[in-house]
Amino acid sequence: MTATLEREIGQHLRQRPRRLRRSPALRKLVRETALRPADFICPLFVRDGIDAPLPIASMPGQFQLPLASLAAEARAIAELGIPALMLFGIPAHKDGCGSDNFSEDGIIPRALRLLKAAVPELALISDMCFCEYTDHGHCGIVNSAGSPHFDAALPPGYLLNDPTLDLLGRASLIHARAGADVIAPSGMIDGMVAAIRSALDAGGAQQTAILSYAAKYASAFYGPFRDAAHSAPSFGDRAQYQLDPANTREALKEIALDVEQGADALLIKPALPCLDILQAARARYDLPLAAYQVSGEYAMIHAAARQGWLDLPGAALESLTAIKRAGADMMVSYFAKDAVRWLAAG
Ligand code: PBG
Repeated sequence: MTATLEREIGQHLRQRPRRLRRSPALRKLVRETALRPADFICPLFVRDGIDAPLPIASMPGQFQLPLASLAAEARAIAELGIPALMLFGIPAHKDGCGSDNFSEDGIIPRALRLLKAAVPELALISDMCFCEYTDHGHCGIVNSAGSPHFDAALPPGYLLNDPTLDLLGRASLIHARAGADVIAPSGMIDGMVAAIRSALDAGGAQQTAILSYAAKYASAFYGPFRDAAHSAPSFGDRAQYQLDPANTREALKEIALDVEQGADALLIKPALPCLDILQAARARYDLPLAAYQVSGEYAMIHAAARQGWLDLPGAALESLTAIKRAGADMMVSYFAKDAVRWLAAG
């Protein structure tokens, strides 16, 4: 190096960011984002009419659980320091309006009563949607000739917004009375937060919170979940109600509406494809913000790890850290239990 060059470079080297990366202790000291057990919400699938846990092929390590296995699983989650569960039901019978979801004896109300008694320290979050309960797999009542809600102005198969709101309110109150601490509407139905809030308040469940899936995109990453929850639509797709992944401003509008309607906390999904939306929501709103690392994100990391192409804990924890760094206060993740164990180990 010539003396001139050395002088020029030398000025720039007065700042050496690597100084603080020199040792594990220094790196730990300047780490800005740390994952902790309390960041996680653990999703569980409860299936009516089975005797033993059934593995979900596309989601390694995840199971459809019978009611009988639920308390032990919930206890294991609580012992890891994870504060909350999110429940998804797979009913024994489906019908046009998803009646299992608003029946006292439906799979989720039974699961909630059992869990509330068995593991009272856990916060119970009930995913509130109809796609697992309807025979057509859509997230509410669909337009069909001959039904009392038939609307000739709308095409057959169109998801009917306002009749669905009624059912969401009814089901939410049943879940709240069965023990849900939080109702998490995930159907992207217009007015869902307001409808659920008023049904809960009218029924004496003023203390039950609403975690709204405020910005939920029509994502290809929900594929494995639809196998797990038997909730794939039998015709069409969910693009009439879920957000177009191309849109940011529309997501912010959806979030604003849910805030106005009284949501207690907001959820954005899928997580890694929406880091920009999380960051924007964090900057604009002061409500607690959740992100859902969805089934496809989980399956993708597992699939690559099985090939030996990715390190499983490394890729999972890096994704979760990125989601938290972008602004999430809490994360729904199928990695929840593993992540807590990996963090404790290392
Ligand atoms: C709706 C719901 C879905 C997911 C969570 N709640 C499915 C959908 O919108 O099709 C997906 C979660 C995941 O992929 O892990 N009940």
